[in-house]
Amino acid sequence: MMRDMNNLKNNFIGTENYMPLMIGIPRETVAGEKRVATVPEVVEKLIKLGFKVAVESGAGDAANCSDDVYRAAGAEIIDGAAKLWAASDIVFKVCAPTAEEVGLMREGGTLIGFIWPAQNPELMQQLAAKKATVLAIDSLPRQLSRAQKMDALTSQAGVAGYRAVIEAANAFGRFFNGQITAAGKVPPAKVFIAGAGVAGLAAIGTAANLGAIVRANDTRAEVADQVKSLGGEFVKVDYEEEGSGGGGYAKVMSEGFQQAQHEMYAKQAREVDIIITTALIPGKPAPRLITAEMVRSMKPGSVIVDMAAERGGNCELTEPNQAVVKHGVTIVGYTDLPSRLAKQSSTLYATNLFRLTEELCKTKDGIINANMEDDAIRGLTVIKEGNITWPPPAPKLPAAPAKPATAKPAAAPAHGHGGGGAPMAGGKLAIMFGVAALLFLFIGAYAPAAFLGHFTVFVLACFVGYMVVWNVTPALHTPLMSVTNAISSIIAIGALVQVAPPDVAGGRGLILALAVLALALTAVNMFGGFAVTQRMLAMFRK
Ligand code: NAI
Repeated sequence: MMRDMNNLKNNFIGTENYMPLMIGIPRETVAGEKRVATVPEVVEKLIKLGFKVAVESGAGDAANCSDDVYRAAGAEIIDGAAKLWAASDIVFKVCAPTAEEVGLMREGGTLIGFIWPAQNPELMQQLAAKKATVLAIDSLPRQLSRAQKMDALTSQAGVAGYRAVIEAANAFGRFFNGQITAAGKVPPAKVFIAGAGVAGLAAIGTAANLGAIVRANDTRAEVADQVKSLGGEFVKVDYEEEGSGGGGYAKVMSEGFQQAQHEMYAKQAREVDIIITTALIPGKPAPRLITAEMVRSMKPGSVIVDMAAERGGNCELTEPNQAVVKHGVTIVGYTDLPSRLAKQSSTLYATNLFRLTEELCKTKDGIINANMEDDAIRGLTVIKEGNITWPPPAPKLPAAPAKPATAKPAAAPAHGHGGGGAPMAGGKLAIMFGVAALLFLFIGAYAPAAFLGHFTVFVLACFVGYMVVWNVTPALHTPLMSVTNAISSIIAIGALVQVAPPDVAGGRGLILALAVLALALTAVNMFGGFAVTQRMLAMFRK
């Protein structure tokens, strides 16, 4: 009966007069996995969105979320995986489901979790055969700024980076911070981080907060400022080569670069006490950065935490899922770092999935709609009602800043336009300037003196605005606009005072009405600018 009801519900997804869907949270079955796909705080929010929530008994035990707390939050507790899967319209999971779990899944159901479609073609076929709709959180187009709240790769990598430092501290026999005590002077530990992506940056911040001297390197030079802002020192490779492979990710570097990097890493290995490696290149094995020779050159008692162990390791001597001692150096190759901080990683993951659910259920009535017109949803929907829709087309992104023209030094320099349009031909530009000059001449000859003053300010403001906005990298447009909006609005109010003098004969009512309307609009602009600024600042406050 229950099954029939749920099938009935599925048939009506997206239509009116429909009962809320049941979100099911099974216990993770991968050996050693402690995370759970939602936590009690998030259960309450899902219920507020109109859903019902069922949790398999014991699903949250390893993440310190007991059945009782889930129950108090409003979830139904169901004994056994088979019943849970059968009762769920939508299943939230952390790890990709096993073949047995897919077998338990309801036909036409929805699954949200890590799937890794490129690595799991068989699983994709099994899910498609179930006529499932599958949203792979790992396939989210992370480069879309509005997708960041759903970015579970980032939230889990942040936890892993933090935990890597804790693992290093655990295996290291000394303090991280320098101390001067009656018993003697303790030098601070030196930590080198290879790869300053999400996990690397989290590791830099954590190690610096513990008081260590932190150095870091990445092939993408643009991360240098982020390293510094977290209290680390960016160590450059003595070789000029652009390391970005697009979308914020790295590429395989040239042999020349690799040789120079090898020398720099060998020097760091001799000097530092701890190395944490996080270097990855999408779709490629992890780059080998720490050789056996470098390990041998490290001081006894040193530690290496290889966060790339699952993809072959950045260190030649890493053994995945093990902590081993080689040449007096402890090499930690755990591949389950987020799971080792299960409460934290589950909470962040649950929030990512909740944000996704909000996007899927804009009507807040417990019904989901995977809108394939939405770039973010399209990206992570890898199977829609049994049809494999992976890989998705590339999302429509704001164009990247134009690269400096290097191929033809004689050509006119490319404009730093965020829109990336082709540089304007010289002839066209000359005509435009000519027309503008004639227009100014005409205005100068015939317009009243008062108008000229305002007009000059207007033209200058347009010019400054153009230079400010167009010469800034697109990634910084939001902070820039938040400030310039606020400033420009204040200027607009000043101008309004001028356009409505008290002694205008006739038409006063119209001027007043226009002034009030303009004021209302600029107020939205101004307070919006301040509000965005405030929100951005809040992101950096502790
Ligand atoms: P990842 O896990 O693929 O790589 C980790 C780091 O290793 C990267 O910073 C990469 O440059 C570095 N690396 C690769 N090969 C290396 C080598 N041979 N030597 C030294 N370092 C090497 O990347 P992750 O952490 O998932 O993201 C990388 C970047 O992507 C982030 O720093 C972030 O800026 C960007 N990103 C952007 C997003 C957005 O635009 N909204 C969202 C998420 C990430």
